[in-house]
Amino acid sequence: MTATKKPQAQYLKDYQAPPYFIEHVDLTFDLAPLNTRVTSVITLKKAVAGEADLALDGIELTLISVAVDDVAYSDYTLLDEQLVIHNLPTECQVTIVNDISPKTNTSLEGLYLSGGAYCTQCEAQGFRKITYYLDRPDVLASFDVTIIADQSYRHLLSNGNKLTQGQLDDGRHFAKWQDPFKKPSYLFALVAGDFDVLEDTFVTKSGRNIELALFVDKGNLAKTPHAMTSLKKSMQWDEQRFNLEYDLDIYMIVAVDFFNMGAMENKGLNIFNSKCVLANQETATDKDYHTIESIVGHEYFHNWTGNRVTCRDWFQLSLKEGLTVFRDQEFSSDLGSRALNRIDAVKVMRTHQFSEDAGPMAHPIRPEQVIEMNNFYTVTVYDKGAEVIRMMHTLLGEEKFQLGMALYFQRHDGQAVTCDDFVAAMSDASGIDLTQFKRWYSQAGTPRLIVEQEYNTEEGIFTLSIEQLAPVNQPDNAPLHIPFAIELLDRQGQPVPLSFAGKPIDHVLDVTNTYQRFSFDGLATKPVAVLLEDFSAPCIVEQHTTEADLLHIMRFARSDFSRWDAQQQLLINAVKAAIENPREHSLAKEVINALRSLVIERKGDLALIAELLKLPSFDTLAAEFAVIPVDEIVAITQQFELQIAKQLQCEFIACYQSLVDDGSVSADAVAVRALKGICLHYLAKIDEPEHAQLLCDAANSHNMTNVLAALSAVVKADSPLSVELLNQFDSQWRHDVLVMDKWFALQAMQGGDNAIVNINKLYEHPCFDFSNPNRVRALVGSFSHFNTAQFHRKDGAGYQLLGDLLVKLNAINPQNASRMLTPFMSWRRYDEVRSMAMKAQLQRLAELDNLSDDLFEKVDKALQ
Ligand code: TRP
Ligand code: ZN
Repeated sequence: MTATKKPQAQYLKDYQAPPYFIEHVDLTFDLAPLNTRVTSVITLKKAVAGEADLALDGIELTLISVAVDDVAYSDYTLLDEQLVIHNLPTECQVTIVNDISPKTNTSLEGLYLSGGAYCTQCEAQGFRKITYYLDRPDVLASFDVTIIADQSYRHLLSNGNKLTQGQLDDGRHFAKWQDPFKKPSYLFALVAGDFDVLEDTFVTKSGRNIELALFVDKGNLAKTPHAMTSLKKSMQWDEQRFNLEYDLDIYMIVAVDFFNMGAMENKGLNIFNSKCVLANQETATDKDYHTIESIVGHEYFHNWTGNRVTCRDWFQLSLKEGLTVFRDQEFSSDLGSRALNRIDAVKVMRTHQFSEDAGPMAHPIRPEQVIEMNNFYTVTVYDKGAEVIRMMHTLLGEEKFQLGMALYFQRHDGQAVTCDDFVAAMSDASGIDLTQFKRWYSQAGTPRLIVEQEYNTEEGIFTLSIEQLAPVNQPDNAPLHIPFAIELLDRQGQPVPLSFAGKPIDHVLDVTNTYQRFSFDGLATKPVAVLLEDFSAPCIVEQHTTEADLLHIMRFARSDFSRWDAQQQLLINAVKAAIENPREHSLAKEVINALRSLVIERKGDLALIAELLKLPSFDTLAAEFAVIPVDEIVAITQQFELQIAKQLQCEFIACYQSLVDDGSVSADAVAVRALKGICLHYLAKIDEPEHAQLLCDAANSHNMTNVLAALSAVVKADSPLSVELLNQFDSQWRHDVLVMDKWFALQAMQGGDNAIVNINKLYEHPCFDFSNPNRVRALVGSFSHFNTAQFHRKDGAGYQLLGDLLVKLNAINPQNASRMLTPFMSWRRYDEVRSMAMKAQLQRLAELDNLSDDLFEKVDKALQ
């Protein structure tokens, strides 16, 4: 008997501690593609007084038997998604046997097959697809795991240390693993397959020897050194900066091709999307190298922030994710360029996060209501969560922040805790009151700051008045505690000391009220104010900075980030002016000259210069408008780029030719390639034999950064070279699906009216596979995010393409479908014709009778 169920939300306010503790689990897996047998022996202790049923979670399991203390037991109720066992003694061992089918599991959650290997993904609630269990993060148990499989699966892996392994009479073999650290079920992992292994060791600061092992598909060993180096750097950095040492004796990473996200921090046995591991200079770009390093770091850092101290419930996800993103950002910034890392992080905030926060899925970094937890692995929980940690870091300073971290571990090691517990540790260790600050955890939306500047000539007093407005979509928000960093520059560009009436003022202003004034005296002339320096809080600053002030900030601000920011603002203003006044369709001479001197002088970090030469992205520009003027943004951006290309082509050629790329992965070489890539980007826009030659040379080089720079330049420029270069790439790389993802992405970005026909054809390409999230994201994700003109065609054909895909993915992999849906979430921000066409696709999904919870939650919110 099945009643049609409407998905039910869970609420943070309803949290209750579990009625039973699970002290220990003993799992045995007898692996077979269609019927893996799982035997689970759980040692239980009742945690409450009186009667309590044990309601174990389980989905798509075939129950074989239940026993209590080794005696068959039948006093239970089997529901659709639960096994409820009645009348258990206060302490007992429950043995559950069930079957599962990894081969038909296309959701990539639970136990599934990736290529020829078994692997698992349990966060957030995938363990219930493996066996009946209290599948919640506040149930911490020690795990013993036995894996039995055919000999062809040479490596049998699970968390912790290997106890034994051996042969069985029937020709199969087994391995037994033991994880001494208690953990929640979401950190469980199992892998069985035949891999190539890169082994290494790391000696911790206390002198312990850690065995490191990286498992990849056969033939990929040459692409593993970078990930291994990244791991060792991560381990060392966490010791130095956070005083945190690794705990187990072995650390394993397995790379698999079928994976929903980037990677997963399972205790002692990380599982990675192969695209976040595999790299060499011929197949991976410098950006890939950077991403790999940061994700390897991220998962490693989870060992303390996530695993040793975990979340009480999933509403607290930002406790581990916001904090771990903050840590991986600091890792990247300490090892590489702090400014560029900051720029990248802020771009994510201002485009993706701000738009999520302004749309139908807006939620606080600690959500209060969830239907499908997988929908809350968001830029808000991760990236805004990291900004919230960063603000605490700004308020406390590094030293007190580290005291807070130490207190957090001292209090909570081995526990499942809340965001409040984290903030309490920070506040107790520093003596800084964070009561008001905590509103960042419970309020959604982006606060707006209206800043006004006044200068009193007679008294030499400069005053900033700051008004804090609640987000448009969250009118009831209370004022937040905002660390508002500033710098004041005099006419010569020198920094002005901040003080009033003889008292120094810190450059981080505490904005806590809806309206506040901050005065500074001793100023002989009106200063130029750098506001929200380094993006010290995730806010929108609304104020009219003159072009002259922006140019002054671009030249003199101490923060590289703020210099970039001022330049972006200048370009954004230019695009807006051109949209408002179609006669002003060219960039001002001053702007072109500023760009020209960047290319000619090449002072400082070349990677930063490359960044400064980019126009703001479509998403950045779109964020400036209530109703996104799609056609105008596309047209004006193209016009500006062409203007830059034409007016600076000699400079770009000279720059390109004078830069020497030594082919290494050093920061200098990476910066050189980045700048050369920008030169190609502009040069491709002008059809000249000399440019074509440079592009073809780069496309034929043995460095993927250069190859891709050339290819994306010709594709974006709609250059006649594209067809030939793309075909050449296809025949060169067909054997390597990860490289082919770059090709799929280039195909998807091709302008021209046949883009959609082309994508439909590419679904038939031998490398394409709807059940592989990397392929789907490369082709359709790139189309919907980067092929603005074609995705947003007025006839709705782009939306139709995405709608068709979502219908298909909904049945194969709801988690991936839900991520791919994102572009439709902001349908209300487009003009009438477009928004109606997008809405029609959402309605089409709403009517599916097999609609997954994942899609239901988002579609339902979008249509409300
Ligand atoms: N916890 C992982 C991380 O941030 C991400 C993650 C959550 C994940 N759910 C997942 C990865 C599902 C893959 C599949 O590092
Ligand atoms: Zn994480």
